[in-house]
Amino acid sequence: TNTYQYIIAEKKGRVGLVTLNRPKALNALSDGLISEVNNAVKVFQDDKDVGSIIITGSEKAFAAGADIKEMEKVTYSDAYNKDLLAQWHDLTKTRKPIIAAVNGYALGGGCELAMMCDMIIAGEKAVFGQPEIKLGTIPGCGGTQRLIRAIGKSKAMEMILTGNNMNAHDAEKAGLVCKVVPPEELLSEATKIAEKIASYSQLTVAMAKEAVNSSYELTLQEGIRFERRLFHSTFASHDQKEGMNAFVEKRNPTWHNK
Ligand code: CAA
Repeated sequence: TNTYQYIIAEKKGRVGLVTLNRPKALNALSDGLISEVNNAVKVFQDDKDVGSIIITGSEKAFAAGADIKEMEKVTYSDAYNKDLLAQWHDLTKTRKPIIAAVNGYALGGGCELAMMCDMIIAGEKAVFGQPEIKLGTIPGCGGTQRLIRAIGKSKAMEMILTGNNMNAHDAEKAGLVCKVVPPEELLSEATKIAEKIASYSQLTVAMAKEAVNSSYELTLQEGIRFERRLFHSTFASHDQKEGMNAFVEKRNPTWHNK
């Protein structure tokens, strides 16, 4: 536990849990809140006893978007000069896997924050959407880029151009979400997955995450080559020797994260 204003950050065994905690504004993502999330995640990144991270909100809202009250009066030159929303992307530099556990609204920046994570688990009542068009603006934190990669052009266009929301089951069908569970089981399910990830070699987990994410940036040929080189590099690790030897000797491996 800690002294943040807009979030709660706690360590649960090997899992770092960040709970967005600005209930009166449905976890609207103010500058202050995003700074705290980045800070908490950085602390977990630097903590060798943490193997994976969960970001969650409340039962009503994961996050209802960027803070409209904070943005309402912002001028173009203000936005440009301070590079509004640029700091959100710090989260994507995290090398440990991050799971978004979403109950309730994940709208605008809330949906974008969830998509910056490595996977999304949703409660049955979760609602995803990019309603910026209704406010006279467009998604500003990766929505137009990540949603299309997650669910394809036609569905992404429909959501972004109409502002229509998508429910949890449709989001799972479309591939935005990896799993839908009853709302009250969301955190325990997310924790189960996070604990499983945290139980493996952290070196190998980081390489797997890096390889998957590189597919966003590279051509298929380059991506396959990058993957193969990382695969080769696992053979320089203790943990590859240990993992394969444990299989052959029919015992559980002991990971050294090196
Ligand atoms: N920013 C600031 N405050 C917000 C907010 C937001 N994004 N979303 C909700 N709130 C505030 C409301 O203003 C309200 O505050 P008051 O009590 O002071 O009036 C409080 O949270 C509760 O909200 P509602 O009374 O509206 O709750 P509801 O249950 O009737 O509706 C909702 C819930 C449908 C999510 C509705 O709040 C809503 O539409 N919110 C805005 C969603 C939105 O447009 N998000 C996109 C923001 S822009 C963006 O994110 C840009 C980007 O790409 C980064």
